[in-house]
Amino acid sequence: MLTLEEIFPPFALRVACGPVELRVLRDDDLPELVELVRGGIEDPDLPMPFLLDWHAQPFSVGAPDGFPTTSLAWWWAQRATFTPGEWRLALAVRRDGALVGMQDLHARSFAHTGVVSTGSWLGRAHHGIGTGTLMRQLAVGFAFDELGAQRCESGYVVGNHASAAVSRKVGYADNGRHRIVQRTRQGTHGVDEQRVVVTPETFVRPGTEVVVEGADVLRRFLGIERGAEEPRTNG
Ligand SMILES: CC(C)(COP(=O)(O)OP(=O)(O)OC[C@H]1O[C@@H](n2cnc3c(N)ncnc32)[C@H](O)[C@@H]1OP(=O)(O)O)[C@@H](O)C(=O)NCCC(=O)NCCS
Repeated sequence: MLTLEEIFPPFALRVACGPVELRVLRDDDLPELVELVRGGIEDPDLPMPFLLDWHAQPFSVGAPDGFPTTSLAWWWAQRATFTPGEWRLALAVRRDGALVGMQDLHARSFAHTGVVSTGSWLGRAHHGIGTGTLMRQLAVGFAFDELGAQRCESGYVVGNHASAAVSRKVGYADNGRHRIVQRTRQGTHGVDEQRVVVTPETFVRPGTEVVVEGADVLRRFLGIERGAEEPRTNG
């Protein structure tokens, strides 16, 4: 019988470095993930970081709306809509085995653009010990080394100093500002987003060895051509 990883190759991916590991979110992760979100994400001194305050929806388990149903639809949609033309790796982030956050890697028309974009968050209790920097380094390093990406883009609401610091530490440069719309329980309003971009030349790698598993089958699933070179581990 086939394994789940053979049936859906994104599940075979594992990117790890020191205490931090990234793997595509599975249903078994959901109880821990829901608990993590309930514990809070935002730093109260920083602006709301997301387009939608999905994490602040009323907790309404088993109901057709509210959290977690609304977020389940988003997480499951990432698998259901996964194609070479547009894909999103919704990566569960574990530190010392415990689920601490999510790191997304998204691309549209990757074969033609070579561009991926990222988004990430950590449970509030897990901020400030370097995980945010390391998980972004792992996602970006994976995109460059294993997928052959040429640029990784991201953005943060102006004033989100934590996200700005992560971007700076990982080697991103400013890439313009634009206006985005945030939808919260308080209403809909426009805020300034700082766009940032990192290339292989400016990327700051983690100081410890990175281990990647499952990249071959994922590349095939994404229709990404690659030369004869073997997938790397890097330090
Ligand atoms: C953004 C986030 C992922 C950063 O993760 P983290 O693990 O807390 O960050 P790190 O511990 O790796 O810290 C990275 C840098 O940010 C700085 N930093 C962290 N919080 C900060 C804050 N509130 N103000 C200013 N700098 C801050 C740290 O000092 C560190 O820089 P240094 O090493 O030069 O001191 C995390 O804060 C988070 O999940 N925030 C809520 C969701 C969010 O904002 N997501 C990003 C959306 S764009």
